[in-house]
Amino acid sequence: MKIIHITDLHLLAPGQSLYQTDPYERLAQCIDDVVVEHADAAFCVITGDLAHKGELAAYHGLTQQLLRLSMPVYLLLGNHDLRAPFREAFPAAIRDESGFVQAVLRRPEGDFIFLDTLDEGVNGGKYCNTRSAWLRARLDEAGERPVYLFMHHPPFSIGIPCLDRIALAEPERFAALIEGHRNIRHIFYGHAHRPVCGSWRGIPMSTMRGLNHQVPFDLHTVSHVPKSHEPPAYAVVFIDADQVIVHFHDYLDRRTLAKTGDHYAYAR
Ligand SMILES: [Fe+2]
Repeated sequence: MKIIHITDLHLLAPGQSLYQTDPYERLAQCIDDVVVEHADAAFCVITGDLAHKGELAAYHGLTQQLLRLSMPVYLLLGNHDLRAPFREAFPAAIRDESGFVQAVLRRPEGDFIFLDTLDEGVNGGKYCNTRSAWLRARLDEAGERPVYLFMHHPPFSIGIPCLDRIALAEPERFAALIEGHRNIRHIFYGHAHRPVCGSWRGIPMSTMRGLNHQVPFDLHTVSHVPKSHEPPAYAVVFIDADQVIVHFHDYLDRRTLAKTGDHYAYAR
């Protein structure tokens, strides 16, 4: 099974630039690549910060690009998103009985659970009692089935101070919520704008760069979130009974080395 993980689009209205790059063009280039290389993916998930300012025009732009994908696409919200314009642009988007952007996708490979960590107007994430009750019920329903979680805000620190102070609030509550469900095989998250993998309480996790701008590897800045222009990436994930493999793909870097005799060099 192949899935596509994309995160942090930060879209503005098509044609507008953000930090000297065009987020809509970056998305279009990403979709170009997915269409050509991964039309066989089971689904695509975008883990939040779909729009930079939550503008309706930005969500409409996203609609246009997603029409190009033949696979189902699941959209999650990040701290830059706004619920009302998102709902207006995507009336058929996932939602739970309380209106949060959450759902479970049950497939033969396991239960894929999409979580809503948005605390609107706040950079940090929140997983409230209502959402927690919903997730607890979904985990109970999963029983012994494999579970894969998708969320914008990580419920753990990643060692980058400017991001750790805006991670999911009360991570210990989230940890207690999923504790005991030993069938959670992976957490796919966003928010970091960097490739960050590892494990948390024994659960593997991964994220990668966003599509427009990144967060530099800065272990000191606390006062604000620095920006960089490391290349954008999306992830191609292979899942089967024995393993989860995550490939990060810098889709704008198409340079390959040409072999000439015993030497390799970039083709001119
Ligand atoms: Fe972001």
